[in-house]
Amino acid sequence: MSRIKIHDKIFEPFISAEEIDRAVSKVADQITKKYRGRKPVFIGVLNGCFFFATDLMRKIDFSCEVSFVKVASYVGTQTTGNVRQLLGLDQKVAGRDVIIIEDIVDTGNTIEAVTEIIANMGAASVSVATLLMKPKIYSKNIDIEFVAIEIDPEFVVGYGLDYDGFGRNLNQLYVLSQAQNLKSDEDMLNIVLFGPPGAGKGTQAIKLKEKYDLVHLSTGDILRNEIKNETELGTLAKSFMDKGELVPDEVVIDMIGNCLNENESAKGFIFDGFPRTTEQAEALDNLLEKHSTEIDTMLSLEVDDEELVDRIIKRGKESGREDDKNESVIFNRIITYNKKTAPLKNYYDEQGKYHAIAGVGSVDDVFDRLTSSIKS
Ligand code: IMP
Ligand code: MG
Repeated sequence: MSRIKIHDKIFEPFISAEEIDRAVSKVADQITKKYRGRKPVFIGVLNGCFFFATDLMRKIDFSCEVSFVKVASYVGTQTTGNVRQLLGLDQKVAGRDVIIIEDIVDTGNTIEAVTEIIANMGAASVSVATLLMKPKIYSKNIDIEFVAIEIDPEFVVGYGLDYDGFGRNLNQLYVLSQAQNLKSDEDMLNIVLFGPPGAGKGTQAIKLKEKYDLVHLSTGDILRNEIKNETELGTLAKSFMDKGELVPDEVVIDMIGNCLNENESAKGFIFDGFPRTTEQAEALDNLLEKHSTEIDTMLSLEVDDEELVDRIIKRGKESGREDDKNESVIFNRIITYNKKTAPLKNYYDEQGKYHAIAGVGSVDDVFDRLTSSIKS
């Protein structure tokens, strides 16, 4: 389980579904012991209680009734202050044993008002069952008899509870992270550096990495390193790379996932030579979402095919890169690029992130074009 983002905030996993289930069972047992044979009426306070109420009621096996209300609050007179009213109560509570079901008791303002209203309607008894309680800030005198889980005064979401409308559907609880600024989107700069083999991605990536203090992830470099070290991954990758074909998606996606995990506090990433297929781009989006971030821009270095072949052959002579020496392998790489990789432009264009950058001219000229595109 990893951290999630809701609106502008990062939340950490807090209480698992299993732990919640145990706590709910505990409360169900306590209620069963006390109320069996008394035919109480449960009144759930919406919206937040809907998970807890459902799971709790499933564990209650004696005769009872269930109903739901909403709490409306409006500003009253100076003396009455904030007035609360129950909406939707379709249940006669006079003379009945009532158990109010709440998601969370924080200051206790809400539950105090609800309890008072129900008591004033002539209930024989009123007790409260809440999923969560923050005893350190609870400031009322009403006894909260059934508490599934006590928590410190932190903000939580999930299992019915929301942050500004969202998060209710999560089946476990998350807590607002202490590390909001560690990796918020605004601070990070994530770039997909795109272009055919020989477009100058590697050269420009090094300069971008220095200027913006980014982590440079080149799948090609990582794989060449694996090949050099004769690892299992290297051997597998070599069989594809030698032919100018793409290494399978699962292999590179796993590699990138590991690199992201190893660079938790990075200011951003340059993805160089990855993604190369739409499947990889989707996988990258999912990975980044888990890290509460996303791709900011896709910078596509555009160079025509003839120029590319010239450049790659020259590079092959200088660096000795195997896949740069053989002309048919070079052609196959360019064909593969045009067939499988170039369609990625559409993928990023649909997200408004695709930016074509002329990849011809001096290294500095191209770099200037890249940085002014990033700024805008
Ligand atoms: P109280 O009236 O201060 O006890 O607050 C109760 C209400 O505040 C709950 O019914 C929730 O709607 C909201 N609330 C309090 N704490 C949290 C939290 O940690 N997460 C989500 N909602 C909360
Ligand atoms: Mg509530």
